[in-house]
Amino acid sequence: MKGLILTGGKGTRLRPLTHTRAKQLIPIANKPNLFYVIDDLVAAGITDIGLIISPETGEEIRAACGDGGRWGARFTFIVQDAPRGLAHAVMTAEPFLGEEPFVMYLGDNLLSGGIGHLVEAFEASAPAALVLLTEVPNPQQFGVAEFDAAGNLVRLVEKPADPPSNLALVGVYLFTPAIHEATATLSPSGRGEYEITDAIQALIDSGHTVQARRTRGWWKDTGKPDDLLEANRLVLAEMAGRIDGDVVDSGLTGAVVVDAGARVVGSTIRGPVHIAAGAVIENATIGPFASIGENVEVTAATVEHSIVMTGSRLCRVPQPLVGCVIGEGVLVAGDTARADSLKLVLGDRSQVRWT
Ligand code: DAU
Repeated sequence: MKGLILTGGKGTRLRPLTHTRAKQLIPIANKPNLFYVIDDLVAAGITDIGLIISPETGEEIRAACGDGGRWGARFTFIVQDAPRGLAHAVMTAEPFLGEEPFVMYLGDNLLSGGIGHLVEAFEASAPAALVLLTEVPNPQQFGVAEFDAAGNLVRLVEKPADPPSNLALVGVYLFTPAIHEATATLSPSGRGEYEITDAIQALIDSGHTVQARRTRGWWKDTGKPDDLLEANRLVLAEMAGRIDGDVVDSGLTGAVVVDAGARVVGSTIRGPVHIAAGAVIENATIGPFASIGENVEVTAATVEHSIVMTGSRLCRVPQPLVGCVIGEGVLVAGDTARADSLKLVLGDRSQVRWT
């Protein structure tokens, strides 16, 4: 069985973070979202993996992932000329996929509990496709499944205004090569994309068996900033503590990771918190649910429920930073003499909010 990870798309809902970075590389608990996806595939025994990349962010994805050797896997990078839909990504990957069954996994999805049980179910009952579903409060924003009275999956609709259920399609799909016959019949949807939901519908309509399973644990599509924070919270909540760096005159409670090469001095750390290598935390309060990236400096500041990426500096910040997503190399610095004024140099589409 092969794997197909989708890392194309534009990530417009995550600007400004995605002006300079592929959204699938945004760190969740200091590890790129995409690496969790790779981990899940490899843990399920899938090591021959194609990655759909875009012309814009493809090189960054390649550089971050390498050839797969780090995971004992083999990566094939496949350029999709434009984000013309999930089914278009499958069409683009057809020469790589050949006649093998495969797992398609969206590179911005995050799932607890892995996919091993799905691969086993798929191999045991051999349907043409297996999809994963979960209940959501906002089905209008997803692909949605409809079942008949006998419990058979009869319809899949993409982002319906009037959803037939609250069961959303999770971004993990298992396919036999029958999917290629289905994608060949598609035309672009109302939003101009070749939809994978339409391709699966074509399988159902032509009499193929399509099975649906429910997620076992939590699932997150990290498409928006609040989703990133929620994913960060969920991953940190499952993390075990580990202190490999230096901790001096500080109080730590809960699950705290301090990577080798990080330094915590005179601070209060309320887990779950992940502090990456090279970070320096001084006279600060961190957590709960904060990820502090590599070489970040936090001095005389409070950071909770936040993601702070590589090389940023948060110094003498008068207000607690809560629910923040801070990109790489950002400076947030207060001056105790004038705590009532703000001096901002913000890039396009930055956000500053008082909460
Ligand atoms: O997350 C689950 C949802 O994912 C499903 O419920 C929907 O049925 C499915 O269409 C999809 O919806 P999204 O609107 O969230 O898809 P998005 O455009 O964000 O793309 C998902 C991933 O696939 C993302 O990592 C970018 C990548 N992608 C997307 C497109 C459209 C590609 O690689 N190529 C593409 O052409």
